[in-house]
Order: sequence, then structure tokens, then C-alpha cells
Amino acid sequence: MHADKLRALFIEFFKTRGHKEIPSASLIPENDPTVLFTTAGMHPLVPYLMGYQKHPMGKRLVNCQKCIRTQDIDEVGDESHTTFFEMLGNWSLGDYFKEEAIDMSWEFLTGGKWLGLDKNRIAVSVFKGDKDAPFDGDSKKIWLSRGLKENRIVALPKDKNWWGPAGAAGPCGPDTEMFFYVGEHVLPPEDSNPETDEKNWLEIWNDVFMEYNKTGDGSFVPLSQKNVDTGLGLERVACILQGKKDIYKIELFSPIIAKIEELSLKSYDDTRYVKSFRVIADHIRAAVFILGDNRAIVPSNVDQGYVLRRYIRRIIRHGRLLGIENKFCSFLAETVINVMKDPWRELENNRLFILSELAAEEDRFGKTINQGLKEFEKMMNGYEKAYQATGKKVGHIPGKHAFRLYDTYGFPFEMTEELAKERGLEVDAAGFRKCYEEHQEKSRLGAEKKFKSGLEDSSEKVVRLHTVTHLLHKALRIVLGDHVQQRGSNITAERLRFDFSHSDKMTEDELKKAEDIVNEAIKKSYDIKCEEMTPEQAKKSGAIGLFDDKYGDTVTVYSIGDFSKEICTGPHVKNTSELGRFKILKEQSSSSGIRRIRAVIEDS
Ligand code: SER
Repeated sequence: MHADKLRALFIEFFKTRGHKEIPSASLIPENDPTVLFTTAGMHPLVPYLMGYQKHPMGKRLVNCQKCIRTQDIDEVGDESHTTFFEMLGNWSLGDYFKEEAIDMSWEFLTGGKWLGLDKNRIAVSVFKGDKDAPFDGDSKKIWLSRGLKENRIVALPKDKNWWGPAGAAGPCGPDTEMFFYVGEHVLPPEDSNPETDEKNWLEIWNDVFMEYNKTGDGSFVPLSQKNVDTGLGLERVACILQGKKDIYKIELFSPIIAKIEELSLKSYDDTRYVKSFRVIADHIRAAVFILGDNRAIVPSNVDQGYVLRRYIRRIIRHGRLLGIENKFCSFLAETVINVMKDPWRELENNRLFILSELAAEEDRFGKTINQGLKEFEKMMNGYEKAYQATGKKVGHIPGKHAFRLYDTYGFPFEMTEELAKERGLEVDAAGFRKCYEEHQEKSRLGAEKKFKSGLEDSSEKVVRLHTVTHLLHKALRIVLGDHVQQRGSNITAERLRFDFSHSDKMTEDELKKAEDIVNEAIKKSYDIKCEEMTPEQAKKSGAIGLFDDKYGDTVTVYSIGDFSKEICTGPHVKNTSELGRFKILKEQSSSSGIRRIRAVIEDS
């Protein structure tokens, strides 16, 4: 069964069980500063899981979500890990709970009309219990009553069997994970399970029982509603359905692997090269999807742009390891777009942008990488000489050496770290950071970790800035014209950042006008109203929105008095009088055709 079929079957299964299909959210989370990328289908659903809001499509939802998990980057290279993947998920927002969730998972996995997997090759885990939440005996009982044997049910602690929150705080809970036996026997031995024989059991699906809210102080408080959040790894399940052990051999990857073979004249089956093949194949998918998401992210030294840069530079470095010296990223990107463009139309729509941004980054790094690698070798020789002279082994690459590679040759810190690791060395990260900070006003590295506060502790400020973002959006359309459309939004407790389509730098006068319009609107004490309607009704009513295939059947529309009307998932303040004084800090280019504004509100 191909991944396309699996995707469709999953959606169909849950639709017949009363679920409504929602579109995949953007890979770049909107209005959540605590993570850089969408890591699971639940991420955009946080306000509904928390019970803050009613989802316009109801309490039972299903979708296929594009996800990026950079924390798995070091594991890429084996047979089953990727950082970009598609996640099939179903949700109960305070509707069904454990019994129905488990029943549906079991039916979909093993039912003859659905995947028809061998029940004897499935094992599950349940939460063992600790000071925050009890042992999940309910799930165990349900699994037993469905015919799963005791020896295939393991109880695991929180580090393995608890999911969420996605950011620093928010909805989370114990989970029951489903595994498929991929060992050498036809049937797993009696005593084999995901605890005793971890490497032979591939995790394929996770049902999370989200009934807790992890708060900013680290405690777990029961939510007002009990939710279910599940995630099934599309590529992994397609892989086992195709009787393969290596995820990179399924049809979503094989054309990419074949293209790398063609470009490098190396074979994927050669164990010396297999890791580089996999790294390149995973990273090029991630890079293409980030660039194609909304054209809002381009390679840079901060936040998502930095991760994108790391991806592309890592692809280039592993390309060199395979002997590819010429520019090659756009060839691979073409293959990715061709393979994925059916379900993911944004890739086709943004094809030229994706290819040209990749080529530009490759130009930048292509010029310096070979010299940088030489420099790295020189450093290694220097350490060896020092060792011979003093008898003392150099265990660390000093921070200033790593910084030189970064500053002069464009090596992301993590790349130097990877090169060092291959030689059994570490890099002095603190020393690197110090050098970096000395050169920059403010370190932007480690962006993924830099947002300490979760939505929870900052939510009031974030919500206020979110409403101000709507006012700004409208003000920009008044001052610059209706071509202005939101291209990205990122809000922290301190500031808003708004990307929009407009080609020229804004003049002082335009900026002042936009700022004044927003402040006028705030002064008018407009009420904020929230309504649900179909996308067609929303369009007719003049609501701002992208009106592409991003919307489901029902959307939420927020109006701010008669000033602004916009499709949005909220949350927002109740009245603009809660907002304070609006101030634009900076207007700059974000990428070609897109401008970026940073702004704050000051208490008046
Ligand atoms: N959020 C859970 C996971 O990612 C289930 O979707 O595993």
C-alpha cells in the first residue's frame, strides 16, 4: 500500500466515525513563540484542547499534518528516523476517551477492511504511573479485553510514555503507544516486547490521553475536559505495509535516493555512504517544505531561517562526502516537489521560490565549504602536533576555532560539532557562544531553546499583541493597498513580528500613518466579536483571509468593531481598550517581495 492510499484510508476511516477533516496547519506555528516548527498535529489545536474555545468543525477531527522535529536530527541516518514527516491524527476535543480511541486504533490497524496488520505482531505500552498521575490500568484493561496478550503490554515511565506539552506549557497526558514487530522472526518470540527487545519494535502510533495541563511552574493540573490526541507516522506505517525494513525505500523516498545515486555515482547499498544518503534525503524534504510553506522563511542566522540554513549546509556537506562537487540542491528539490506535489499543492505553487532560494544558499556556502573543510583539517593536525609535543590529548575544539569556522567559512556551529564528533572530539560551546556574543549585539543562536516562557505564562501579553496584529494588518492595507497579505506572524510576550507582501521599503510617512491608524482604532474601544461561518460566507462578508485550500468547511471570523474582519483561530482580547499604545520598532525586508515589521505595545 502506497503512502497516498494510506493517507486517504486513514481520513476515510475516521470520517465514517464522525470526524471532520481539517487541513494541515502551517509548518511555522502562528502565535506560539515556544517552538519554531509544528511538531505534531495537536500543536495548532492547543486552544481547543485546553477548553478555551470551541473548534468550529466540532469535537471529532482528523487530518494529515506536515511536521518537523529537529530534536531527532542526530538520529537521522538509521532506517527509521526522519526530521520531516507526515503525521496522521485523530482528535477528540472533550468527546470520546480511552475506550473508543483504543478501539478505533485497533480496528484501523488490524481490521480486514483497513490495514489488516497481523495482531500477533503488535504490542503496546501504557503509562506506569508516578507522582503526577496514576498507572493507566484502564488502558491496559481495554487492550487485554480486545485480545492483546499480557506479555505484549508494557508499562513505561514518563520519559517514554507521556506526551506533551509541545512547548513549555500546555495540554499533555499519559499515552498508549502501538508498536509493530520488525525483528527477524515471522512472529515475535513470547518474551519479546518494546521494553525487553526495543530495537525490534517500531513505534507506529500514539494515542495520547490529554487530560492535564502542565503549567509554567511545572505542575500538572487536570484539564476541564478529557481529550484524545493521536499521531500515526505515515512513512513508518507505509514502510511496514510494504514489508520493508528501511523507511527510505518507500516510494516517497526512493526517487530522491535514485536522484542522489545519479548525481553522486555512488550506491545507496554501499554501507560507507548510506548515512549521507539518508541525511540528504531527509533534509532536502525538510528544506523544500519549509521554503514552500508560505514563502515566509528564507535561510538566515536566526530562528527558523537558521534551522533551514543548517539543513541546506548539512545537505551540501554530505553531498561532498558522496563526492558531489557541483551545485545539486535544486535538482533534488525538483524530485521532492514532483513526488509530493499532489497532496501538498503549496510546493508546486512555490516551485520557483524554493529552487531559487536553495540555489542562492548553495552559492553562498559552496564558495567557502571546501576551504573551511581544509581549515578544519589544519586544526586537527595542529591538535595532533600539540599532542605529540606535550603528550596531552586535545579533548575540545576551542570556542574561538569553532567561531572562526562559523564566521569565515559559514559553518553552522552544529556542523563543526558533527565534524568534531566524527573525530571523537567535542566543541567548547560556551567558548563559541562567548565569541559569538562579542561579535553580535545579541546572540540569536540556540533559537529553539531561547523562548523560556510558555504560552501559559505569557498568554495575556501574547493575546493582546495578537489582536494588535489584526489592527496592523488592516492599517497596512489602508495605507499601502489591498495587495498586503499576511505572510507570517510570530508573537512573543515582548513584541509582535508581522511579515506581509509588499515590495518597497515603507517610508517614514507610511509607517507613521499605519501607527496612527492602529492607535486611533485602539482609542475607539471597539468590541471584538467572534463568529463561525463557511469560507464562502467569510469571503462575502469581506473578511481578510487567504482563501486557499487551507480552510475546512467552517471557519472562525474575528471582527474588531467595523474596523477589521479576519479569519483566525484566536484567541483575542474582548475590547481594544485593553491594548495600550502601539509602536512600530522596525520595518525591514524579510525576503523578496515580503516586508517585516516588529512592533510593541506600551501601557498607556
Ligand atoms: N502528539 C502525539 C505525538 O506526537 C500524538 O499525536 O506522538
